[in-house]
Amino acid sequence: IKYTIVDKETCIACGACGASCPDLFAYDDEGISYVLLDDNQGISSVDEDFYDDLEDAADGCPTQSIKVSYEPFDGDPLKHE
Ligand code: F3S
Repeated sequence: IKYTIVDKETCIACGACGASCPDLFAYDDEGISYVLLDDNQGISSVDEDFYDDLEDAADGCPTQSIKVSYEPFDGDPLKHE
């Protein structure tokens, strides 16, 4: 089981994640990314079908703003760092 969340403090609105994985990531009015599943709380498990795209998105983010963990984030992107 995997969870994901965007660190909106460090996202620079580059737009790569939504291109890699439009099912998981969308952008707010300022172009900052968030996780669609649970309004960026990192508490809803990611469907296995999206694991490859999620990995691409996390690897492709220039600011390492996409966090992935086997444990839920409870709304805190830095919870597991
Ligand atoms: Fe932001 Fe990284 Fe996506 S900078 S728009 S979270 S690829």
